[in-house]
Amino acid sequence: MKFFVDTANLSQIKEAQDLGVLDGVTTNPSLMAKEGITGSEHILNHYKAICEIVDGDVSAEVISTDFEGMVKEGEALAALHPQIVVKLPMIKDGVKACKYFSDKGIRTNVTLVFSAGQALLAAKAGATYVSPFIGRLDDISTDGLNLIAEIRLIYDNYGFGTEILAASVRHTMHVIDCAKLGADVMTGPLSSIEGLLRHPLTDSGLAKFLEDYKKGN
Ligand code: E4P
Repeated sequence: MKFFVDTANLSQIKEAQDLGVLDGVTTNPSLMAKEGITGSEHILNHYKAICEIVDGDVSAEVISTDFEGMVKEGEALAALHPQIVVKLPMIKDGVKACKYFSDKGIRTNVTLVFSAGQALLAAKAGATYVSPFIGRLDDISTDGLNLIAEIRLIYDNYGFGTEILAASVRHTMHVIDCAKLGADVMTGPLSSIEGLLRHPLTDSGLAKFLEDYKKGN
């Protein structure tokens, strides 16, 4: 399972990279705005800065909603750095753009996916990654994890190579449940990954080992 962090914050990305288990980064226009990154030149430079920190894939989202605009923006993003994956919204022109990029060998991440049907379309269009938003489904009393299970079943039935990128992961149990269901990737805050570390028996066990060591020395 690949671990991505869902942030445009460079120090968080560096911290995740330093942990040694980071496989990539996802961003979106809201996350860029949260870091105060505005204006196309500033945004493009920020993507380059992210690519310089992390070894893996970096999803960069287009803001156009028409096919021509998405193609123009996506080509510029892909040309920025070999690690860039073009992130496209799950709308009709997004599906067309996904097929266009897939035919050209440019990697894509189809985002804002909330149903199995949308995920099926993304795979048919040759998406590299599909991003079902589990946290946002949970927010409206719909089981986000069930969507991961449905997509896994459908992709396995037909051998689709599109990777299931469980997005809108909010906490550590989401990470564990996505791993049980066979999601290929998770993206969430660094805290959702760091939460995997914690266990009180580890802490008390270590404290006792250190205490006993001191006694014998
Ligand atoms: C995924 O690529 C999105 O950026 C993200 O996971 C959305 O998460 P949120 O629902 O916590 O905003």
